[in-house]
Amino acid sequence: MKASKPTRLAHWTLLLAGVAAAVLMPLAAAKAATPAELLAGYTKAAGAPASAERGQKLFTTQGKGDFEWSCSTCHTGDPTKLGKHAISGKAIPPLAPSANKERFTARNKTEFHFNLNCKDVLTRECTAAEKADVMAWLLTFK
Ligand code: HEC
Repeated sequence: MKASKPTRLAHWTLLLAGVAAAVLMPLAAAKAATPAELLAGYTKAAGAPASAERGQKLFTTQGKGDFEWSCSTCHTGDPTKLGKHAISGKAIPPLAPSANKERFTARNKTEFHFNLNCKDVLTRECTAAEKADVMAWLLTFK
């Protein structure tokens, strides 16, 4: 006996929901994170303890990029304060998690901006150790 139309529709709906859940759930799981988890991940990849002091130095030292920027050009030297984009002038919410609860809660976003900004400022990607250092420094602000 052939399945009735509503039954077939129900089957398709279930199948689609299953596929969507299988695709979306790991994605969501991979994205959500806490600052402590991200710092632990970078520290593990670096294979050595992070240094807040080195992080501050990297953040505030002018890089070799054409724009002669440092991270602090846009983010200021005080990560609890609003930053300002060097080109667009747009406000950038503080980077320190203590001043901005949304910071370092989405792995993809953090990776994306570390890669982009390190290339702009340093003309290369930051190493895991450098990311750990910057995060360690940002987490010293209470
Ligand atoms: C030209 C301006 C500019 C410079 C220079 C800059 N940033 Fe950013 N940064 C931004 C903007 C814009 C965002 C995205 C907007 C936001 O998240 O508020 C951002 C976001 C970030 C994030 C994302 C944090 C999160 O929420 O997960 C990190 C990390 C970061 N920047 C680190 C750095 C570091 C490290 C440097 C120096 C190597 C740097 N930035 C230099 C403009 C800049």
